[in-house]
Amino acid sequence: MIADRAQFIRDNTRLQAPPHAPELVLHLADEITPIWRLTEEELGEIGLPPPFWAFAWAGGQALARYLLDHPDLVRGKRVLDFASGSGIVAIAARMAGAAQVLANDIDAFCGAALEANAQANGVDVAFTAANLLDAPPPAFDVICAGDICYEKPLAERVLAWLQSARDAGAAILVGDPGRTYFPRDRLVKLAEYQVPTTRELEDMEVKKTGVWVFP
Ligand SMILES: C[S@@+](CC[C@H](N)C(=O)[O-])C[C@H]1O[C@@H](n2cnc3c(N)ncnc32)[C@H](O)[C@@H]1O
Repeated sequence: MIADRAQFIRDNTRLQAPPHAPELVLHLADEITPIWRLTEEELGEIGLPPPFWAFAWAGGQALARYLLDHPDLVRGKRVLDFASGSGIVAIAARMAGAAQVLANDIDAFCGAALEANAQANGVDVAFTAANLLDAPPPAFDVICAGDICYEKPLAERVLAWLQSARDAGAAILVGDPGRTYFPRDRLVKLAEYQVPTTRELEDMEVKKTGVWVFP
């Protein structure tokens, strides 16, 4: 079992800029970090769930880029980054001038990654590991979600939950590289990018990735 998550993250990642949002630095895995080569089974043996937090996913990179280029969307606002992973979107929102940012992920390692990454970028972002989908969405001005449509049950549940947040008045921004369960007919595209990613995670080195909003 990993007793000190923060130390594990520092020992097994490299601080580097995600290619599509190079204003930030994040503790990420790459081919020269040992975590890259561990199988899911080996990760399980050391008590580590799949380390989503060790990668800047295409959806998160696109959303971070969009917030950095359109700070007016979040400036002075309360922002929730749902499924935060490394915290890339939460950190970009705070750098873009959000008044308050809460990052949320059910994997507690994401809390440790967020703390290390927020510190590396000189911003403060709060974190909760609660499963927010178990209750109606909390009140935020803006809810961001990067790359959440990779599994059917999760995608369906999150999209219904985001719709109810939209109905209650929040702005909803989603970053998605055309995952199978992404309902493109229900959302409006704000931007499209060619996002560099890695062949370890994706079928292509560059993923066409959109930033979408609930109408
Ligand atoms: C593909 S990663 C995306 C991470 C980040 N948003 C990005 O784009 O780099 C998906 C994340 O969703 C998180 N997740 C899955 N179910 C969740 C839930 N019910 N609530 C919050 N996060 C969840 C996973 O733990 C994982 O960190």
